[in-house]
Amino acid sequence: MLPAVLTIDGPSGAGKGTISRLVAKKLGWHYLDSGSIYRALAIAVLQKAIDVTDEASIVEVARTMELTFVCADELTVILDGSDITRQLSLETTGNTASMIAVLPAVRAALLKKQQDFRLMPGLVADGRDMGTVVFPDAPHKIFLTASAEKRAERRYKQLIEKGVDANLSRLLLDIQERDRRDSERAAAPLVMAADAVFLDTSEMPVEIVVAEVLHIINN
Ligand code: DC
Repeated sequence: MLPAVLTIDGPSGAGKGTISRLVAKKLGWHYLDSGSIYRALAIAVLQKAIDVTDEASIVEVARTMELTFVCADELTVILDGSDITRQLSLETTGNTASMIAVLPAVRAALLKKQQDFRLMPGLVADGRDMGTVVFPDAPHKIFLTASAEKRAERRYKQLIEKGVDANLSRLLLDIQERDRRDSERAAAPLVMAADAVFLDTSEMPVEIVVAEVLHIINN
């Protein structure tokens, strides 16, 4: 029998990461942050100065990159022997990830790397196409969203807390641009799976969202 999967899809900044990590911890399941795979590839592409439209070269990097997730108190991500954890959360990394994610052959090259995370006793998978493309047979699917303004505000707070300089109106514009690109792309666009449960977290505190997700799984 295949291990169980809970997919949590939605736009950037909807709180998928926080919610998925907490739910995975409560259930004792594995966690896949699929965005970090696209982000790691974006870092490799930037390092190698490959053009973001050069699909063949990016596919080659996707096939050959060695990516390791080291889970201790904090997650450490190693790309080809170097620690890229800090670079992963940079805005340039996210924007480049969103640009290369429109390329169908790149998505295909990353498919198995993501499916390999499906291990016993179960997996919480967070991303854009977890319930539609990567784990279409998942028994539990959630589509998590919040208004663009709320998502920009949350991102702003996160960056300020990390001591990173940020501009709220710039972040809102970036989020709107990223939403448009992620939703309008032809390959695996951000859409809600027909069998997913919709949750708008704009006015919901984290604990309530986690309780709601656990309730959905247990029913
Ligand atoms: O979730 P995130 O912000 O870390 O993702 C960064 C980008 O990667 C996002 O803008 C689009 C892409 N992505 C994707 O296309 N499919 C996924 N399953 C996860 C991320």
